[in-house]
Parts: sequence; C-alpha cells; structure tokens
Amino acid sequence: MFERALMAALDHIEDDAWLSEKLARLGAQHAAYGVTPEMYEWFGEALVAALSEVSAADWTEAHRDAWTRAYRVIAARMRAGERAPARVAPVA
Ligand code: HEM
Repeated sequence: MFERALMAALDHIEDDAWLSEKLARLGAQHAAYGVTPEMYEWFGEALVAALSEVSAADWTEAHRDAWTRAYRVIAARMRAGERAPARVAPVA
C-alpha cells in the first residue's frame, strides 16, 4: 500500500489539486495512527537510505537530491492534513 501511494504521488508530483486532496487525506489518517512530525523525518531518511542501498552502483547524488525533494513535497502535503478529519478512501 505504501509503494502504491508513493508511486501515485510521484505520478502527480506537479498536480497541485491532486496532491492537496489525496495527500491531506492520507496525512489525516496517519495523524489518527499516531504518526508525529519527527517520524516523517525519520521515515524520509530511511526511505532514501533504502533506495540508495537497493540501487547500489546506479545511485548518484542526483538521485538523492530528487528523492529528497519529492519526499519533502509529499510529507509536507500529508502533514497539511494532520488537523483534518480522517477518512478511509484509498489514495491510489
Ligand atoms: C511518504 C510518506 C508515506 C506514505 C505515502 C504512506 C502511505 C501509507 C499507506 C498507503 C498506508 C495504508 C493505510 C492508509 O491508506 O492509511 C499507510 C499506513 C500506515 N503508515 Fe504510512 N505512509 C507514509 C509515511 C508514514 C510515516 C512517516 C509513518 C510513521 C513512521 C507511517 C506509519 C504508518 C502506519 C502506522 C500505518 C498503519 C499500518 C496498519 O494499518 O497496520 N507512514 N501508510
């Protein structure tokens, strides 16, 4: 489910309306799970580290920059939904 949501967000990374609506809803659900702001930081570091590990020799600083920027956009949109009421519709 995480991978599908991440890929859907990347497919819409320049679609402001989609990001606001879907990721705010997902963020509201995460707030309800008990996810706190610092957890988004830890999760982002772990995600980039995991991608770098599986990409091995193919991994470059450009990949690190692009993934870090994309994750920041996604996490910020999710966090914007923290105070909204949680709903149960899927993100993808
Ligand atoms: C890019 C950021 C993230 C994305 C795209 C994402 C996506 C998802 C998705 C699609 C689900 C399935 C249920 C649902 O739709 O709510 C889920 C569940 C969950 N996520 Fe995330 N997530 C992200 C970040 C995080 C972070 C930072 C944490 C905390 C460390 C977290 C903790 C959880 C937990 C606890 C669940 C519930 C698992 C369960 O039902 O057993 N997520 N996430």
